[in-house]
Amino acid sequence: MDISLVLFLRVCVQLLVLPVYLLSFLGIWEPFCKKIFFPFFIEKLTASYNRRASGHKQELFCNLQEFAGPSGELTLLEIGTGTGANFQFYPPGCKITCTDTTLNFQDGLSRSMAQNQHLQFQSFLVTPGEDLNQVADSSMDAVVCTLVLCSVQSIEGVLKEVLRVLRTGGAFYFLEHVAADPSSWSYFWQQVYYPTWKLLFDGCHLTRETWKNLEQAKFSEIKLRHIQVPLYWTPVQSHIIGYAINCQAVQLSLPTHCPVLLLVLCLGAAPRSLLLAGQGKEEGY
Ligand SMILES: C[S@@+](CC[C@H](N)C(=O)[O-])C[C@H]1O[C@@H](n2cnc3c(N)ncnc32)[C@H](O)[C@@H]1O
Repeated sequence: MDISLVLFLRVCVQLLVLPVYLLSFLGIWEPFCKKIFFPFFIEKLTASYNRRASGHKQELFCNLQEFAGPSGELTLLEIGTGTGANFQFYPPGCKITCTDTTLNFQDGLSRSMAQNQHLQFQSFLVTPGEDLNQVADSSMDAVVCTLVLCSVQSIEGVLKEVLRVLRTGGAFYFLEHVAADPSSWSYFWQQVYYPTWKLLFDGCHLTRETWKNLEQAKFSEIKLRHIQVPLYWTPVQSHIIGYAINCQAVQLSLPTHCPVLLLVLCLGAAPRSLLLAGQGKEEGY
């Protein structure tokens, strides 16, 4: 990749949106972006994004119910809920706790809640994913994050909290845009747009290699795929999608000399589709 060409084009893009940089310098852009521009943009984007990603989302969330507890109830925490773009994909009766860092998406969120009465909304917590202290340890069957890890301060901090609130055998579902293949034109344009995109879209990073954070976190099993979502002419087509299982509590409470028991417990807690995928009988993430 020609670094000088990237830098030249980066400056050209920055000049095109110079007024925004000036507003940012004056301290006006960030509050306007957070309160008005970004919520407006996300609401418009959600419908179009869901149209393009609905097949992926349906496939991703289709086994959610298999993580329900013994009573058949599924407790789910969504981090960075925004306008509730995923509600339509959750199974009936699912008990949802929503979280976000802001109340600025409330109009869109209320509309989504009204349209998805098959769900049981428990509470809305205004808190960052890095600090979910209002959520008890091991209290969730599933945690969901879509298009959020690109914007958080600390992916490691969020994943640590996800592992804490997930029960043993619970699952973390993710769909995130990420850095493209370094040999691709997409990656080139991500490098060009990176600083301006971050300014325009409330701190969204174009070039995060989020799959590395997921692989390093202490999940026992990860089903992860790299996919392209057809958001043509945008630098956010490259995504990762999948889910990861938390067996951490089992590992902590078991004697370390008992790997067979650990394996049996983890397999017992995993959903059927995951086990079948391992046997090559069903396509998994
Ligand atoms: C691009 S929107 C995605 C919203 C929704 N998840 C979706 O798929 O449409 C990013 C969301 O992440 C939220 N967010 C940003 N930083 C966050 C953090 N540290 N913890 C939790 N949510 C955060 C934003 O407020 C916003 O609602």
